[in-house]
Amino acid sequence: MVIRVGILTLSDKAARGERVDTSGPAIARMLAAVHGETTYAIVSQQIIPDERDLIETTLQEWADGVDLILTTGGTGLGPRDVTPEATGTVIDRGVPGLAEAIRAESLKRTPFAMLSRGVAGAIGTCLIINLPGSERAVRESLAVVMPVLPHAVELLHGHTEH
Ligand code: MTE
Repeated sequence: MVIRVGILTLSDKAARGERVDTSGPAIARMLAAVHGETTYAIVSQQIIPDERDLIETTLQEWADGVDLILTTGGTGLGPRDVTPEATGTVIDRGVPGLAEAIRAESLKRTPFAMLSRGVAGAIGTCLIINLPGSERAVRESLAVVMPVLPHAVELLHGHTEH
C-alpha cells in the first residue's frame, strides 16, 4: 500500500524565512526510510504561519488528495499556537488515542510533553495528526504512532479485515 501524505509545518518564523524548518524535513526523512509492504508518498509539503483560518483551509484542501496529514508546530501554550483548534474544527471524527499515546510515551522522556495540546482525527478518509514543533519532539512523537498508521489508514478506507 502507498500512503499519500501531506506535511504541514506551522510556524510564523519559518513562514517568514526567519527560521529554517527542520521538523517538516525530519518527518519526510522518517517516512522515506520505511521500506516494505507500506510506503509513503509525500504529495504536499508546506510551511504556513500560525493563522487559524489558513490552517483550516489548507487541511480541508489537502484532505481530498492525501490519506494522512502530519502537522508540526503550534501545539503549545503560546498565544499564536492554534493548530489543535484549527484541526478540531475541520475533523469530523476524533482519534484521541493517537494523541494520548504520543503524550504518554513522550512523558517518559520529558515532562514538557504535558504542554503539547496536539489532537488527531479524520476528515473523511484522511487522518490528521498534530505533532509538536521541535525536530526532536517530532521524531519522538512520530515514532510512537508510525507502527499503527498503515492499519489506521486501511480502516478509514473501509478495509476492516485484520
Ligand atoms: N514531545 C516530545 N516527545 N519531546 C519533546 O522534546 N517538547 C515539548 C512538547 N512535546 C517535546 C514534546 C514542548 S517543550 C512543548 S512547548 C510542546 O511539545 C509544544 O510544542 P509546540 O508548541 O512546538 O508544538
